[in-house]
Amino acid sequence: MEEIKTLPLSKNIHPDVNILKYIYNKSLEDPESFWRKVAEDLFWYEKNGPVFEPIDSPPYCYWFPYWKTNLSYNTLDRHIESWRKNKVAYYWEGENYEKKVLTYYDLYKEVNRFAYVLKNLGVKKGDRITIYMPVIPELPISMLACTRIGAIHSVVFSGFASYALAERINDCQSKIVITVDGTFRRGKLINTKKIVDEALNYTKSVEKVLVIKRADIEVEMMEDRDYWYDELKPSSYPYVEPERIEGIHPSFILYTSGTTGKPKGITHGTGGYMVWAYFTQKAVFDINDKDIFWCTADIGWITGHTYAVYGPLLAGATLFIYEGAPDYPRPDRWWEMIEAYGITILYTSPTAIRMHMKYGEEWIKCHDISSLRLLGSVGEPINPEVWNWYYKYVGQERCPIVDTWWQTETGGIMISPQPGLALVPLKAGSATLPLPGVDADVFTEDGKSAKPNEKGYLVIKRPWPGCLIGIWNNHERLKSQYYSKFPNVYYTGDFAIKDKDGYFWLLGRADEVLKVAGHRIGTAELEAAFLSHPAVAEAAVIGKSDPIKMQVPVAFVVLRPGHIPSPQLRIELINHIKETIGPIATPQSIYFVNKLPKTRSGKIMRRILLAVIEERDTGDVTTLEDETSVEEAKRAYEELKRMIEEIP
Ligand code: PRX
Repeated sequence: MEEIKTLPLSKNIHPDVNILKYIYNKSLEDPESFWRKVAEDLFWYEKNGPVFEPIDSPPYCYWFPYWKTNLSYNTLDRHIESWRKNKVAYYWEGENYEKKVLTYYDLYKEVNRFAYVLKNLGVKKGDRITIYMPVIPELPISMLACTRIGAIHSVVFSGFASYALAERINDCQSKIVITVDGTFRRGKLINTKKIVDEALNYTKSVEKVLVIKRADIEVEMMEDRDYWYDELKPSSYPYVEPERIEGIHPSFILYTSGTTGKPKGITHGTGGYMVWAYFTQKAVFDINDKDIFWCTADIGWITGHTYAVYGPLLAGATLFIYEGAPDYPRPDRWWEMIEAYGITILYTSPTAIRMHMKYGEEWIKCHDISSLRLLGSVGEPINPEVWNWYYKYVGQERCPIVDTWWQTETGGIMISPQPGLALVPLKAGSATLPLPGVDADVFTEDGKSAKPNEKGYLVIKRPWPGCLIGIWNNHERLKSQYYSKFPNVYYTGDFAIKDKDGYFWLLGRADEVLKVAGHRIGTAELEAAFLSHPAVAEAAVIGKSDPIKMQVPVAFVVLRPGHIPSPQLRIELINHIKETIGPIATPQSIYFVNKLPKTRSGKIMRRILLAVIEERDTGDVTTLEDETSVEEAKRAYEELKRMIEEIP
């Protein structure tokens, strides 16, 4: 499709819905032919056997199990052999306005160099490599170098603190850590290598650390363990033959939060993930060779993996990536860059849009952002007010918005408008319809399809190519987390409704997982971090609504005997969370209580705590073991509120 038309927002019936339905039905009726045809756009060393093979246990299906390919080959070599060789792959800008441009050929050479260095360090197919760095070109370069040689990358978001990093290294037993000396955030220097050194005090598997020079600062280098990448990097590029990788070989692990205290190592395969990333990039973003695509997510999250690295590169697109804060040095930094690079597609989160909305549209108006033709949203529900602001001021009532629903586990977008296939009328706040291959439904508690407009649980009724292949180190958890609530269907953990037109409206998490500025944080993980402090006996974390971040964590804490509540201890506990998990998990408030509201079986009743901080009626409390715990929570809440009010 050459041009995207302005979408008719008010009409309920549009002919393109039928086109979309036709494609969708084809994908479900004959998935073998449908996905074979998509896969044939990409390069495979071998195409033996079926596209998918049913198996007895979750995930119930293997994609391209006997086919062989290579993600790095498909993102690079395939383009080098075409006219795209000298097309720009990445425009990069650092927070301090540093700039880099890498063509596909440049990227290819850099990836080969990196893969060569990794091989010389003894990395072999199947080894796990942890990558911990900000969004600089070396991040995608090192990821692609891993997939070139069949090593499994585990990128850890650079905002995580040393304990969280160590936990993720230990779980997958990484052999190598790739990092930087330091980085900048809002003008402040962050000593990244020091965080890695601290993490390595708690790990045993890491043999080597590769350090990339970013901030040019002095760092401690341990002999025979730490190496400057620049000193190992060959000046002329050596060709590294891509490994021939089986379709179900893990390509990467990405840790995300669930309902237990321990993060889950979501593991994606190679063939299915590749086809899904490529297909969704085209179907949803309708990407073409004139586009400059900017996915603002950090590459340390799944959105960055799929839409700031693999999807666009598989499609041969030009990407823009930015290292710094969205409002640094001024609130118009984004609009300035959109104007400077002529960005055509902006893919971002409702939290970021709300932040810009708060700064005001005046900051946009002093820039020419007419290059934009399509907008995207991801990570949280986008409420109509925010949708309309995004549409009016960023999209200038011209650009359609694709509200894309998906998860770390799904590998790529699942429910979204699909301008690359056919346009449908948009409804502000709805992610619209499922993509081909996605058999989505809303189930009631008893596992039946909900009626139109009835709230229920979002489920996916059959496997799709991008589906996670496992949880690293814990295959059992795959079943209990995703395939147990309802038999044989994938349970998303989200609430949703389907309206009479079949449009999906996502209503947030149905489990104990918070969405803080689009980041997924498990309350159990935060509670475990509180409990690791010597003063804490018990902790209950809940998500409080926030006008910008959607939710922020607040905690009710019971202290161990001998510890007295004080403002100092509160600050100490906040710092403890920042130092163990990272600043993204910083609790907004900590309430000291003598007991928590629990059921007779010992389960903490978080809904009561939430009602207390939202100043609502606590509802039925008869199931509580000790009803005075509600008064206790109210007292702690009022006390802190008064203290805050008293601060001049
Ligand atoms: O609750 C849903 C929400 O984000 C969760 C997945 O989080 P994560 O694995 O970190 O991946 C985020 C980016 C893909 C989902 O379970 N979510 C994601 N996209 C949307 C959304 N909620 C509403 N609307 C969306 N478009």
